[in-house]
Amino acid sequence: MYMSLFEKVPLAPPDPILGLTHAFLQDKRKGKVNLGVGLYKDEQLKTPILQAVKKAEAQLLQTEKSKEYLPIDGDGVYLEETGALVFGKTLWSQERKRIAPFQTLGGTGALKVGATFLQEELKGPVWLPTPTWPNHRGVFTSAHLKVEAYPYYDSSRFDFEKMGSFLQKLPPKSIVLLHACCHNPTGCDPTEEEWKKLGALFCKYQLIPFFDLAYQGLGEGLEEDAAPLRHFLTSGLEMLVAVSHSKNLSLYAERVGVLFVVSASEAIKTAVVSRIKQLIRTNYSNPPLHGAKVAALVLGDKNLRKLWEEELFTMKNRLVEMRTLLAKRLSHPSFQQGKGMFGFLGLSPSQVARLMTEYGIYMPSDGRINVCGLNANNVDYVVDAINHV
Ligand SMILES: Cc1ncc(COP(=O)(O)O)c(C=O)c1O
Repeated sequence: MYMSLFEKVPLAPPDPILGLTHAFLQDKRKGKVNLGVGLYKDEQLKTPILQAVKKAEAQLLQTEKSKEYLPIDGDGVYLEETGALVFGKTLWSQERKRIAPFQTLGGTGALKVGATFLQEELKGPVWLPTPTWPNHRGVFTSAHLKVEAYPYYDSSRFDFEKMGSFLQKLPPKSIVLLHACCHNPTGCDPTEEEWKKLGALFCKYQLIPFFDLAYQGLGEGLEEDAAPLRHFLTSGLEMLVAVSHSKNLSLYAERVGVLFVVSASEAIKTAVVSRIKQLIRTNYSNPPLHGAKVAALVLGDKNLRKLWEEELFTMKNRLVEMRTLLAKRLSHPSFQQGKGMFGFLGLSPSQVARLMTEYGIYMPSDGRINVCGLNANNVDYVVDAINHV
């Protein structure tokens, strides 16, 4: 009898968030609510293609002449537009010489390319906030970097003192992952003043920041949300930045993102670029075309850019509205101060389980909720259910 070579392959654990969506879809109850999703939803609880994106795609359909390979580091126009978006036009051109951009497969791809580079050149470990987006651990571990944790959140708030005094004790050249804005899952970010203190701390103790920027424009605004990493850059630090355009351009499945690696000098950058190009070439060779072309058009065309910024503003405002409404109705002021899509309401795993079985309200067992799952029709139901459990 034929024995499979793969007979002893162990079953991997299911992804907690994707498993939740499956359970939600199977639920036959009419009033069910999904507060567990990882994407933006409008008042109709849909994730439509943005108008600016649709228009850019229509233009591309007329003008695109070829689908030949992109360079290893991606579409040049897209990279320049994203550099200006993330760092601001002036800083981008001032510091361009020491910044290397690479188009990646979304924010996850940027994290993975960065992690692989760090593993090869510095070995690690990488320090992640507690809590953090669960996939951070997976991505860094799969790049064979040792993963450690630093304190970030305690008693419903960001704990600056704990984080600062912990980071001071790390050895120089420790890699520290930072959520640039809209911390996932807590929604709690450092204040401007705290970011400045953190920048000084990173300089003093020679720590290496690895910024994850997955929600630019969905916290306070395009400029404000990127301010922390701009501040770190002007302090002269070397760093990495993983950018995602999944959320702010609603391009999820197109897999559009950028990894920026900031080196101390142009000469060092040249070597860094050669290494990273080599690891991309031997992995997926070069990135996909369509999403990057669309993003480049939206960011670079005056009219499309204006339309996109209006659409982004509407998305951000809906997040603020839903957050404010829920915080008020549940008398939970600290939830209102949070930024972005996610936050905790202090629900225990057993309360989360009851919400699911008794009310058809879904969220991961840690109680992280995405406010996009709420709208005018279901918010009363959710508030009553939470009060009941
Ligand atoms: C904090 C954080 N980083 C990165 C990502 C990955 O984004 P992408 O879908 O572009 O890979 C996400 C997505 O949910 C996220 O929340």
